[in-house]
Amino acid sequence: MRAMAENMDLAAVQSALGQWFRQLGRDLPWRKDYIPYHVWISEIMLQQTQMERGVWYFKRWLTRFPDVGAVAAAGEQEILKYWEGLGYYARARNLHKAAKVMVELHRGEVPASYDILLSLPGIGRYTAAAIASIAFNQDVAVVDANVERIFARLYNMETPLRNREAKKRIQQLATELLPAGEARIFNQALMDLGGLVCIPKKPDCANCPLAGHCAALAAGTVAERPVVAAAGKTILITMATGVLEYDGLIFIQQRMADDVWGSLWEFPGGRMEAGETPEQTVVREYREETGFAVRVTGRIATVIHHYMQYKVILHGLYCRLDEELRVPELQAAQDFRWVTAQDLSSYGFPAGHRKLIKYMAESGADGIS
Ligand code: ADE
Repeated sequence: MRAMAENMDLAAVQSALGQWFRQLGRDLPWRKDYIPYHVWISEIMLQQTQMERGVWYFKRWLTRFPDVGAVAAAGEQEILKYWEGLGYYARARNLHKAAKVMVELHRGEVPASYDILLSLPGIGRYTAAAIASIAFNQDVAVVDANVERIFARLYNMETPLRNREAKKRIQQLATELLPAGEARIFNQALMDLGGLVCIPKKPDCANCPLAGHCAALAAGTVAERPVVAAAGKTILITMATGVLEYDGLIFIQQRMADDVWGSLWEFPGGRMEAGETPEQTVVREYREETGFAVRVTGRIATVIHHYMQYKVILHGLYCRLDEELRVPELQAAQDFRWVTAQDLSSYGFPAGHRKLIKYMAESGADGIS
């Protein structure tokens, strides 16, 4: 591999990439003037999110939060509401925290230093490098999964990318290839090439500006690069949740701030224990989480949601109080509300619960009779 790296015509690769990007790179809203705040928001949104979806959320976000100060001044609930549907809500909470730090310590600006960026909540090495290079054109290489795939093919690497050494090697190669003073263009060119041409399946080698330099293409191994290590297993989780209605209102509770879906709202519920029916789970979870005695009155729907390595099957049921109305004794939540079915849309919910709400609205069955 060392020999390959030495044989690679770096100047030719740099120039082919740059030309390609200027002609065929994506036209994205934050690429007009590269305002650092815009670049930061785009990078956080694009983690785990497809480009088209990210752009839609980005534009809507800017209408409400035009600058760092607007994010810092907003309440967490509103931040989460604008994030709703993007998932991985820790990103939104960290973004909120980072905005406050920027206001307090950096005059409301995104800091221009890689090391300071790295110290902010929600900004790891990849994102710090992306912001430093794209917003400030600093000479740092950015390596994400798209870039790794390009290098694995360009150098026909035989080691799976799970391997730490392989990752380190790619970081080195990307740094060697980076033309001084052109990181903004170069890094984005690699990201776009990986997203548009050098894609995982059926890459468009016929239209690739690096085809003449690609060792995997020459060896006929493009389809086998990057080499994948044995896949991890999907973990199945089965859950049940109850939409509790009383006098035209629905009970919701707000999760603790520090868990996966921290500070989002939900209907009480949880994992089904061995031998339990969804009805029994809902009755037990209500007793454990709120102290309420409830009885199940019907089924809403069963929805499936994928989250990282988990596949979550969520049974949604309607229920009623089986006792007089009283204040809940919250065990798994920081707050609760009784809200109308229409009001549900102004709270941030995790994906599975949101699917149930959508189902209730569309079927006209909002649990209220
Ligand atoms: N994916 C993540 N960040 C990106 C960017 N700035 N351009 C293209 N794709 C990306």
